[in-house]
Amino acid sequence: MISYIGGKARIGKWIVPFIPTDIETYVEGFSGMFWVFFNMDLEKFPNLKTVVYNDYNRLNANLMKWARDYDVLWEALSHYPCQQLGVEDTPPLYGEMFREYQSEVFDSNLVITDENSLEIACKYIYVLTQVFSGSKPETATYTDYKGKYRCKVLIFMDKLKNPKYREHFDRITFVENMDFQEVVEKYDSPTTYFYMDPPYWKTENYYSNHDFDVNDHIRLANCIKSIQGKFSLSYYDFPQLSEWFPKYETVVGEHNQLRLFETKYNWEQKDFAKAAAAKKDGTQNMGTELLIMNY
Ligand SMILES: C[S@@+](CC[C@H](N)C(=O)[O-])C[C@H]1O[C@@H](n2cnc3c(N)ncnc32)[C@H](O)[C@@H]1O
Repeated sequence: MISYIGGKARIGKWIVPFIPTDIETYVEGFSGMFWVFFNMDLEKFPNLKTVVYNDYNRLNANLMKWARDYDVLWEALSHYPCQQLGVEDTPPLYGEMFREYQSEVFDSNLVITDENSLEIACKYIYVLTQVFSGSKPETATYTDYKGKYRCKVLIFMDKLKNPKYREHFDRITFVENMDFQEVVEKYDSPTTYFYMDPPYWKTENYYSNHDFDVNDHIRLANCIKSIQGKFSLSYYDFPQLSEWFPKYETVVGEHNQLRLFETKYNWEQKDFAKAAAAKKDGTQNMGTELLIMNY
């Protein structure tokens, strides 16, 4: 929907074909900008009744609530001045607005209420769209495109009018602002599918408004291993991962002459150029995306 650090805009196309097509409930525990959902061709999921967005960052959840009300959000955004394509001189105004909104939306004393939530959504969009690849929006500096590109607020506003996006916004049943574990407990069932895209190992501090650490990675592994539904989990590899989600059936004991096996998980992997990570010699910095599934 909007460029976002760790967002699965391109990688989503690779992930979607692994999603079972007979699911009734689709949940993302760490939705961010919900790129995997926006990559889904919803006609291929005929039984899908419930779609759940969840993110612990309240600014993301508030933005998604308003995106479902796309006409109202579009109207509100149209009052915010933006850098124009071809207009080179950027008055200091745009940079000042950016810094003002940035300190307002990331102020820890900010309370989001029914009265200010639309305004906060607009200001957050203004900040998020104008930082490089949606990265660290609370500390990033303003990018002045000097008339070379169209302002990304306008590109986002086009999506609010785009029938393909609208079809997806219309299918979002619930927007939650919870910890992933709460959302798993609330929506787990044999016909639920969870796509889990946590902050990656050792990159946890790239994200705003949360505090994910090693204990949360362990908590996530334990939580999804015992669900009734299906999950796929995105990560870059790290040593503990194959202990938590073994690729092969391993014998864990014997009982009455029966061998006991630990569940085997299905691992898929693919190399992708890391977003905005060209090296000095012009070649791309590659990363291997993993998708671990319990089906
Ligand atoms: C890798 S990003 C998800 C990107 C997303 N798949 C997309 O395409 O935009 C991880 C997200 O997890 C959220 N998050 C961090 N801790 C969380 C928690 N305990 N429960 C739920 N969400 C959390 C962050 O706010 C961030 O938006």
